[in-house]
Amino acid sequence: MAKKDIDWSSLGFGYMPTDERYVSWFKDGKWDDGALTKDPNITMSECACVLQYAQTVFEGLKAYTTKDGRTVCFRPDMNAKRLAESCRRLEIPEVPEEKFIDAVKKVVKANEAYVPPFGSGATLYLRPFVFGYDSIIGVKPANEFQFRIFATPVGPYFKGGAKPITIRVSDVDRAAPHGTGDIKAGLNYAMSLHNIVDAHNCGFDENMYLDPKTRTKVEETGGANFIFITKDGKLVTPKSNSILPSITRRSLMYVAEHYLNMPVEHREVYFDELKDFAECGLCGTAAVISPVGKIVDHGKEICFPSGMEEMGPYTKKLYETLTGIQMGEIEAPEGWIVEI
Ligand code: PLP
Ligand code: COI
Repeated sequence: MAKKDIDWSSLGFGYMPTDERYVSWFKDGKWDDGALTKDPNITMSECACVLQYAQTVFEGLKAYTTKDGRTVCFRPDMNAKRLAESCRRLEIPEVPEEKFIDAVKKVVKANEAYVPPFGSGATLYLRPFVFGYDSIIGVKPANEFQFRIFATPVGPYFKGGAKPITIRVSDVDRAAPHGTGDIKAGLNYAMSLHNIVDAHNCGFDENMYLDPKTRTKVEETGGANFIFITKDGKLVTPKSNSILPSITRRSLMYVAEHYLNMPVEHREVYFDELKDFAECGLCGTAAVISPVGKIVDHGKEICFPSGMEEMGPYTKKLYETLTGIQMGEIEAPEGWIVEI
């Protein structure tokens, strides 16, 4: 398959329309078969439920070219399950897992020329989403929905790539204690937009959200979970009902334990503990693992010993093992890699 003439290594995390996307309609109580379309635009009523009441949930996953030239996806079944949970919570009809996986395969296959070559540093990002389509004015769920997946080639989420970033402790909360923080709903991101603009204006790359109830525990950022490494090489990662259950984080916990022989602690992490950790990173599909060099809490700095120049040694090992599995250089656990 001839690849598109794109300067892969200069891609950032942006949207570039590709040739085909998948659309399926939910009408009269059922999903249709779904099909690919070349049209990237959506026409809808001014009163569409998604526009008025933000009834929309989404996912993010990637397709990769392996060293031996295959095109693969990473754990799409996990995205299917999480999307179903997000749907249930927003009164959106669930997309069955087989339908989700079939749609992922169709979109990747149809856009294979956009799956960046092995070693280019870029990947094909897939964005599945479901939204309430018909006109709703009283507060209630839509009756008609669209499930879509588009694809876009992307580079690193943070501009510097593997350079450590600086984040600040946020003054505003991301999610309520018994709210929607653990699902991938557009509304969680709408609330973060002002805060991320403000963080950038103040010279920070991201916001660290604390637990909304006590503001003493670490939650996550606007688009990634946290991992920390202790001075004796343990992986510590926050547990909370109001953060998104990151597939990357769950995969890294497995990789740490089963590939790298690192002890893993998935538990509440107090902000006061951070000064004692050796390394810190953000993990997610878009972020992969982005090292954090410094956390600023109202002028008070926590500087990790790994510094501002490169990833710490444990973070690097985790990064190399995870991406090695994703790109077919390291044997994957059963079921993690799905060939297109
Ligand atoms: N947390 C938030 C708020 C996210 O948006 C994401 C991105 O998907 C993640 C964490 C990381 O999740 P995953 O590793 O499944 O991409
Ligand atoms: C992802 O990592 O897939 C996300 O959805 C995060 C988003 C901030 C780009």
